[in-house]
Amino acid sequence: MRYPLLSALAASAAVAAPAASSYDYIVVGSGPGGGPLAADLARAGYSTLLIEAGGDEGENPTYADIANFNEAANDETTRWDFWVKHSDDPARELKFQHTTWDTGDGTFYVGLDPPEGAKLLGIQYPRAAVLGGCAMHNAGVCSMPADDDWNIIVNKTGDASWSAKNMRKYWKRIERNQYLPAGDEAHGYDGWLATSVADNSWAKNDSLPGTKILKRMAELTGQDPAEAANLVNRDINEAGDSVDETTSFYNMVTHADTKGKRSSPNNYIRATLADPAKYPLTVQLHTLVTRVLFDNATLKAGSTPRAIGVEVMEGASLYKADPKHVAGTKGPVSQILATREVIVAGGAFNSPQILKLSGIGPAAELTKFNIPVVKDLPGVGENLADNYEGSLLGLGAAPIESGLITMLFRTPSAPTKKRNIYTWCGAFSFEGFWPGFPAYHGPTQYTCALVHMSPKSQAGSVRLVSADPQDKPDVNFRFYERRGAEDLRELVEGANLLREAWQAAGDPVLPFEELHPCPGAKGGEKCADDAQAEYFKTQAYSHHATSTCAIGGDDEPLAVLDSKFRVRGVEGLRVVDASAFPVVPGAFPSCPTMMLSAKAAEDILADAKKASKCK
Ligand SMILES: Cc1cc2nc3c(=O)[nH]c(=O)nc-3n(C[C@H](O)[C@H](O)[C@H](O)COP(=O)(O)OP(=O)(O)OC[C@H]3O[C@@H](n4cnc5c(N)ncnc54)[C@H](O)[C@@H]3O)c2cc1C
Ligand SMILES: *[C@@H]1O[C@H](CO)[C@@H](O)[C@H](O)[C@H]1NC(C)=O
Ligand SMILES: *[C@@H]1O[C@H](CO)[C@@H](O)[C@H](O)[C@H]1NC(C)=O
Ligand SMILES: *[C@@H]1O[C@H](CO)[C@@H](O)[C@H](O)[C@H]1NC(C)=O
Repeated sequence: MRYPLLSALAASAAVAAPAASSYDYIVVGSGPGGGPLAADLARAGYSTLLIEAGGDEGENPTYADIANFNEAANDETTRWDFWVKHSDDPARELKFQHTTWDTGDGTFYVGLDPPEGAKLLGIQYPRAAVLGGCAMHNAGVCSMPADDDWNIIVNKTGDASWSAKNMRKYWKRIERNQYLPAGDEAHGYDGWLATSVADNSWAKNDSLPGTKILKRMAELTGQDPAEAANLVNRDINEAGDSVDETTSFYNMVTHADTKGKRSSPNNYIRATLADPAKYPLTVQLHTLVTRVLFDNATLKAGSTPRAIGVEVMEGASLYKADPKHVAGTKGPVSQILATREVIVAGGAFNSPQILKLSGIGPAAELTKFNIPVVKDLPGVGENLADNYEGSLLGLGAAPIESGLITMLFRTPSAPTKKRNIYTWCGAFSFEGFWPGFPAYHGPTQYTCALVHMSPKSQAGSVRLVSADPQDKPDVNFRFYERRGAEDLRELVEGANLLREAWQAAGDPVLPFEELHPCPGAKGGEKCADDAQAEYFKTQAYSHHATSTCAIGGDDEPLAVLDSKFRVRGVEGLRVVDASAFPVVPGAFPSCPTMMLSAKAAEDILADAKKASKCK
């Protein structure tokens, strides 16, 4: 049976609020955007309902122990598979080496030569449907964006509270730093998010091949090789005017504590739930929000639509991205009201989908699926951007003893003085995502993974394929569509530099045999830059999607939100998650999204105070 969406929309305002079904605030989605926000609103004394499609795996070691991040992202317990495209060119899509197919016998085929009759799925893009969102299955890498990634919001909206200087305040509020002596002005020590670093003492041992590579990397990037063993402990989240123009080694920070326990919104939500007498937070798990409800009286011409609640379908695995979903399964549908506001935080794919299902988005697209237009907002689901990621992967002639080398650097053709690549190197393999990732290439594997920052194209989109809220949307990143050649050149420059550094590894590791971007190349010999660019063009992957409900200025046609996260042209509705960023924030969005969430809490509470005064 198909749930009759349209008549439900019409009936929405008729629903009287049962006592347990009305809250001050409803937050949809418990990831880095929604999770901390719901906790903050409840801690300020407002009754808040946090609705999450997934369950709670906070105690499950697959999620709780940060070292298990690869298992976590593969785990069917929480996995949502989006099968995305990187371009509009089917031939280019079929060159992606980890293209995934459904063989029809319950297994996936991953590769370029599918068995007869296999059905093309696309490129796997995992998300976690679980309390804490993708911060529960990610690697926990925690990195501040460039100041400009915040300041651009000041420029677009005139709202000075988005300045990088001010945003640091939210970082200090949420961080519980476990790696620096107390008192560092750039850091917080008693927030809810634990941060820690690795022990990098290995770098003091000059005879390790990893240390030899490290020192050569120093030479190639203008750092003092004699200082390398100290620089690997530098704070990657330091503050200062010249930080974004600094090429340096750092110690990778993760949102985990010193015992290796993952720290995420899950911890903060649980700590808030632990004191129900003080904090009126309700969490409803295994519940899919199907759309936002509006006050019928405000849906006529001349008035501003007002969000008054959400419609939900209850049950586990209702969304078709869930590999455990059984075709045809539905759940009971009901409505829950919010007296103050609804805040959508479903992540960069689901927030635009929820808005569109609710009648907020490009009018033509909504009309195509018979969704009544509540507000024509052409930017919803557009503007999708992501970091380009790729890797230099090779096999040594012997295992490579090395710790993790983390470096932020600038390649020669970067458009500004700012560094443009975040790399981490070590005896592991990382080549993106597919069912069962990563591949093990044997004991001599060595990788430098590259995250390219500030992509110059934001031509991706998240578009509906139907009005069915259980369907996944169509996600197409349209990588490199705008100024792609420049970003590809920067990636190739990065790979060339790192390859050169590898040649310092010495005996018995040399010669390296490269697996990519220059397959078969030996001893540092490289393939042509063009071939490498083609490699990154067809094989780049990503997992930091943002900007599909972007904050923007009054004069920007694709702006979805104002600077206070309010959906433009609608009342009582905000979006607070990675989709709100107008540009991808630095190399890793998880911690920046938690900062954005803390800011949203402050903005929403300030509005609540104003509203109370008026009454
Ligand atoms: C495999 C992987 C590894 C990553 N590694 C890193 C990393 O190391 N460092 C880093 O900074 N970033 C990393 N990221 C990215 C980072 O985790 C995300 O950018 C971040 O989690 C985004 O937060 P969010 O709140 O916008 O969305 P999400 O984390 O996606 O949270 C959205 C939540 O909303 C729920 N939801 C969605 N739709 C509905 C609905 N209709 N009804 C009810 N609930 C709904 C989802 O179940 C989910 O829990 C990684 C991402 C992936 C996929
Ligand atoms: C809301 O509006 C729809 C369509 O305009 C109408 O059919 C419905 O009866 C209205 N509901 C209420 C409760 O007024
Ligand atoms: C903001 O605008 C100023 C003045 O036009 C400009 O100098 C600056 O580079 C802009 N910053 C960002 C991040 O866009
Ligand atoms: C340095 O590493 C080598 C190779 O693993 C090892 O034999 C040696 O003991 C190490 N030296 C120190 C001081 O740890």
